[in-house]
Amino acid sequence: MSRSAFLFASATREPGPWKAALDAALPAYDVRVWPEVGAPDDVRYVLLWKPPAGLLGTLPNLEVAFSLGAGVDGLVDDPELPPGIPLVKMGEPGLVEGMWAYVLYHVLRYHRRMPEYEAQQARREWRELDQRPHRACRVGIMGLGRLGAATATRLAALDFDVAGWSRSPHRIEGVTCHHGDAGLDAFLRRTDILVCLLPLTEQTRGIIGARTIARLPRGAVVINAARGGHQVEDELVAALDSGHLSAATLDVFATEPLPAAHPLWAHPRVTITPHVASITDPVAAALEVAENVRRHEAGEPMAGVVDRSLGY
Ligand code: GLV
Repeated sequence: MSRSAFLFASATREPGPWKAALDAALPAYDVRVWPEVGAPDDVRYVLLWKPPAGLLGTLPNLEVAFSLGAGVDGLVDDPELPPGIPLVKMGEPGLVEGMWAYVLYHVLRYHRRMPEYEAQQARREWRELDQRPHRACRVGIMGLGRLGAATATRLAALDFDVAGWSRSPHRIEGVTCHHGDAGLDAFLRRTDILVCLLPLTEQTRGIIGARTIARLPRGAVVINAARGGHQVEDELVAALDSGHLSAATLDVFATEPLPAAHPLWAHPRVTITPHVASITDPVAAALEVAENVRRHEAGEPMAGVVDRSLGY
């Protein structure tokens, strides 16, 4: 009888480090790398990132689908993922650290007025700008899951004035939490730096558009490190051009890679990073997945199981 197989399947990630990490963490499994699926009947587990179309429906003995990313949009609605199969999102600790560090870096960059100093440097201009305390900088985090809650907590610990907004009520020490449609207005009106860390669902798609942006104070900044589907690009650009938004840092886009001809690349108030705000580490991820496999086989609850009706 053949060994049970664990399949790594990504159309975009370099598989070498994943194969090595999964072999080390799951010695009892035959770790295979798509497109070399081997006998599909052997495959009990799959780890996915932008999976090749048509794959999931070909694995009759699949027990669990693991996402390589924290965001599971694109997987959750996959018609080929049978309804009874648990989908598990990535929660390796480095993903959390990467995200709060990314957001902190960009918040500090705006708070310490670095884009203005960079412009001054280009003009060889020596001029001191006003500097306000962290307390006077109102950061608003949309999305209070693992990434959002950790980011809010870190910023609050550094004395920023932090509020959070999410679908359902949360309590986070040092953070003013708002929720639901009813809580959105008050949250936006007090937010100088809006950070999006929401899951992408039908409810959150396009949330960073004209209606939301208009409720931010004039001169606000947007940082989107969640999904490109959260922003309405032309409405965001219109708000930057009118000066209602003073700047945006975007890590994610409707089309990735962002096409070379896209006007956002050259926008003077936009900082672009190529979907790198937080990157899953193969070694830590393999350990997390292996622990969930152990739990699954012991009949214990796995960590990070997605509620497929909510979409995250
Ligand atoms: C990255 O985008 C992730 O979902 O982890």
